[in-house]
Amino acid sequence: MDLFTALAQRHSYRGPFQDQPVPRADLERIVQAGIQAPSGCNAQTTTFVIVDDPAVLRRIYDVLERPTLPPALIVCIAHPICAFRDMHFELEDCSAAVENMLLAITALGYASVWTDGVLRLDGKGEKIGEILGVPAERQVQVILPVGVPAEACSQREKLPFVQRAWFNQYGQ
Ligand SMILES: Cc1cc2nc3c(=O)[nH]c(=O)nc-3n(C[C@H](O)[C@H](O)[C@H](O)COP(=O)(O)O)c2cc1C
Repeated sequence: MDLFTALAQRHSYRGPFQDQPVPRADLERIVQAGIQAPSGCNAQTTTFVIVDDPAVLRRIYDVLERPTLPPALIVCIAHPICAFRDMHFELEDCSAAVENMLLAITALGYASVWTDGVLRLDGKGEKIGEILGVPAERQVQVILPVGVPAEACSQREKLPFVQRAWFNQYGQ
């Protein structure tokens, strides 16, 4: 799929998935797209745990209090470090990796949603980190479910270009 088609077709998908596994080769391709994302000072602070074992998926979704399992999850883990002087870039690094992966997920015909806010509630991110053996100094930041969507869905409407971007002068 052409990059600009993937940009247009990417959307947050929160519906059920078809009962169809995601081949590991596809999961590896998706995560490789995340690995290729830029990072501050090339510090590469984001690491990934790919979960396709139904028993582990169940434990994670129990923490998230969600009944229906996706075929796979990509758990993105941030390493909070000073990458340059006292500057932290791990959230931006993780975000860049996530967007690359969302586009790869779309290009391969799968769907996902950037799952972030819920991880910050009631220590859920930490609980998932414990299940996966994530070192205590690293943080489960974003989770991406991956699967073939069972329902049609499209990207939420965006404001028109003229309301969000300008040449040379803000608002002109
Ligand atoms: C930083 C960030 C955090 C997000 N957290 C969540 C989340 O926790 N749960 C969720 O369902 N969607 C989450 N989303 C997805 C947004 O709700 C979604 O991108 C937005 O509504 C626009 O829809 P679209 O992705 O279809 O364009 C998050 C997106 C971003 C960029």
